[in-house]
Amino acid sequence: MFYRGRRLRKNPTIRSMMQETKLHKSNLILPIFVCEGENIYQEIDSLKGHYHYSIDNLYRIVDRMNESDIRSCILFGIVNHKDACGSEAFNDNGIVQQAIKKIKELNKDIYVIADVCMCEYTDHGHCGILDNDGYVNNDETLKYLSKIALSYAKAGVDMVAPSDMMDGHILALRNILDENGYTDLPIMGYSAKFASAYYGPFREAAHSTPSFGDRKSYQMDYHNGQEALREVEADINEGADIIMVKPAMAYLDVIKEVSTNYNMPLCAYQVSGEYAMLVSAVEQGLMNESVIEESLIAIKRAGAQLIITYFALDIANKLNN
Ligand code: PBG
Ligand code: ZN
Repeated sequence: MFYRGRRLRKNPTIRSMMQETKLHKSNLILPIFVCEGENIYQEIDSLKGHYHYSIDNLYRIVDRMNESDIRSCILFGIVNHKDACGSEAFNDNGIVQQAIKKIKELNKDIYVIADVCMCEYTDHGHCGILDNDGYVNNDETLKYLSKIALSYAKAGVDMVAPSDMMDGHILALRNILDENGYTDLPIMGYSAKFASAYYGPFREAAHSTPSFGDRKSYQMDYHNGQEALREVEADINEGADIIMVKPAMAYLDVIKEVSTNYNMPLCAYQVSGEYAMLVSAVEQGLMNESVIEESLIAIKRAGAQLIITYFALDIANKLNN
């Protein structure tokens, strides 16, 4: 006798019955880039199909979310004025703060997450405050990240997601939020975030390329999987509600390892470079577009229950049909 696996693959019905992993719209989070100014609705060269929206144009993407039934987004801000301490990030009338309010006004049921970081707001493009020698000062940065998170909380955000990779960032945010009465506001930590070339298209989109050096003194070295578990554990101990692995496709081993080792909600970020690669392969006719769904299923199968993806609307539309 031998194993006849094909018995359970005979027709679409039994194949669908046997599916262990299914994508659901409610698991997908859409990144949105919001910029200062008026009447801006500009396609992003490095991220085709995604746009810079000024506040007055946010209704366009909210309409699309409503049509596709994608209920959650993560916001990234693009500002004109940048300085050494990223002061626009914690301006209570800053671009992300305005966007939070605007989206809630357009549809109060959209779940709005704000990425908390400094690289889009500092004139040097690093994710924190620099010492004189150009090294990112961890504990000084924590003070600023706290201000940013509090400012987003005051604007009415549903969740904050610090992507800076400073040590102690979850605890710092938890403390400031609790002290100010936001005990119910969840924190999603970018726990295992690797220093990755896959962020290239995002940095063009968010105008956040560092003006010197790289992010390797704070983001993780991609040679390391065990270290990722320590980073995750630190975020959990500091009070993270959701942990994250980023990027996703090249780090499925890390996603799997984290999901089996920790009983915690896990998010994976299918980043800009993953999106750009897949879009370009499909556009060139090298692969069928079903490769997109396959990539997301792989991320979910590895153990991520939430996925931040630039494909959120496309996949939702597909699932709707
Ligand atoms: C900011 C941030 C980055 C991404 C999310 N938040 C860029 C970076 O760390 O350089 C990358 C997202 C993507 O590539 O889609 N710290
Ligand atoms: Zn950053």
